[in-house]
Amino acid sequence: MCGIIGYKGSKNASEIVIEGLKKLEYRGYDSYGFAIKQNNSFEIIKEVGKIHKFNKELPKSNIAIAHTRWSTHGSVTKENAHPHVYNNIAIVHNGIIENYQELKNKLKNHEFKSETDTEVIAHLIGESNLPFEQAFKETIKQLDGTFAILAINKDSDQILAARKGSPLVIGIKDNDYFIASDIPAFLKHTNKVLFLEDDEIAVINDKIKISNIYTNKEIKRKPMEISWSIEEAEKNNYPHFMLKEIHEQADIIEKINQKRVLNNEILFSNLNLTENEIKNIKRIVLVACGTSWHSALIAEFMFEELLKIPTEVEYASEFRYRDPILDENTLVIPISQSGETADTLAALREAKSKGAKIVSLVNVHGSTIERESDSTIHLDAGPEIGVASTKAFTSQLTMLYYLTIYFGKVRNILPLQQIENRIRDIKLIPNLIRSILNNGKEVLECADKYYLKKNALYLGRGINFPIALEGALKLKEVSYIHAEGYPAAEMKHGPIALIDNEMPVFFIATKDNRTYKKVISNIEEVKARGGIIISIATIGDKEIRELSDFTMYIPETSYILTPILASIPMQLLAYYIAVKKECDVDQPRNLAKSCTVE
Ligand code: AGP
Repeated sequence: MCGIIGYKGSKNASEIVIEGLKKLEYRGYDSYGFAIKQNNSFEIIKEVGKIHKFNKELPKSNIAIAHTRWSTHGSVTKENAHPHVYNNIAIVHNGIIENYQELKNKLKNHEFKSETDTEVIAHLIGESNLPFEQAFKETIKQLDGTFAILAINKDSDQILAARKGSPLVIGIKDNDYFIASDIPAFLKHTNKVLFLEDDEIAVINDKIKISNIYTNKEIKRKPMEISWSIEEAEKNNYPHFMLKEIHEQADIIEKINQKRVLNNEILFSNLNLTENEIKNIKRIVLVACGTSWHSALIAEFMFEELLKIPTEVEYASEFRYRDPILDENTLVIPISQSGETADTLAALREAKSKGAKIVSLVNVHGSTIERESDSTIHLDAGPEIGVASTKAFTSQLTMLYYLTIYFGKVRNILPLQQIENRIRDIKLIPNLIRSILNNGKEVLECADKYYLKKNALYLGRGINFPIALEGALKLKEVSYIHAEGYPAAEMKHGPIALIDNEMPVFFIATKDNRTYKKVISNIEEVKARGGIIISIATIGDKEIRELSDFTMYIPETSYILTPILASIPMQLLAYYIAVKKECDVDQPRNLAKSCTVE
């Protein structure tokens, strides 16, 4: 949950790492620091706070490493900020060294300046009499846990890098080398990238050499070209990434529609599953965290209702400690925007160890989850920088929808006419999203009215229950208002005690022939106790408006696609309330974009 970047090349390294760090800030933003190589010394700068406030001049150099922190070990102080230095060595690190205390204990009479796990790495390298590269390798071999590490030495012009469980990607432009936690850090300079794999080290000098740390075997890997544009990694004219990404959703789903459908055929060319394997799937288990877990809950409806395949949704963090029963006829689907969430990666590994097939849904190319899956479906949503996930969520729902239809066709369970109807329905979604975004004023009015509330409840039934959870998560993570999502029917089993005239209750009350009438009864129950009723309703529904203190409308669509539309006002509402409360929308307190620690 930190961001690291290093650069060696012909440009000014200080400028490169500062601008790169600003692009990585979403990964962690409580403190930051740089090590700028100056002949045979370092310029070390460390600050508490956010890198985008940094405006000091740094010395020119052609080698530098830098770090933006989300603290795991040690409070937020300058001493605990990276880089950590010992003797001639400076290092930055993303991850957790689980045996750091044991390693520290071996370093008698070493004085440690910080409370971090990371500092011990600098001491181990710095106290060795071996040549830099060798000392680095021997140190890395002693580390347990997860790490992406960059190291420089006052007496060398190399940058050394190693990774295990935390991402590291290398950008190449002629003889300029960028090495960072994520692609946006250097996308402005190059889209030619190499991904470092676990147990590999990279030696960057006038060229780059990658080898396995244990076999010393050199690895020749062809760089790949990333299709992300610079604009996608910039805010452009939006005040926040979150708002930009909310507004990108219609175009992204439109592109998915164009890519995934040809003459009513659903295309999943790189799905590493034979038709027979698809026909033999007896059970599906989805593992994810946070917003991705909410999209998994919606996928459960899709898979069970349309495919009649028993489906379970598991919190990834809990799944692996349950000793789950899996076999070769179980399809496990890890869902992860970042592709680096440690809990989801751990669940994937557990499932793999039990013989299940793994098809992951990720957004970031070359991510660890992608590399460890049997096959991967990319969301193609472009970089999602805002910590609150929005476009990745609706892209996940769209992709899961297509996967459902694709499996339904292969398993001969969906009649052709139904397939055509469902493709027609999803193709209408981009314009329906645009119509909601064009009527954003209702949401703005709602935010104006309720942004000072201290608590909120989100209620929905059926396929809208996960949207109640998602709406509550969005609000709490960007505005810090305590919000909870429940199945609407659950209120009478306890939570209804919370209702009073200070409690805003958001109902996802869209028209359907399943639970709509029941939702109305739930609204009445809350109303009878003085609760504030704010409803998401289907355009034209006057009955809900009569019952509600405030109503936001969305267009009608099929039951299974309703969550995509219902999530839009939830996203906008959280955004506007957070802005009105002057919260840091793109980098909410205590959070980071990717949770690469368990
Ligand atoms: C969503 O708004 C949150 N930022 C968070 O819950 C996120 O969805 C979760 O950490 C999972 O991340 P992933 O999709 O990258 O695995």
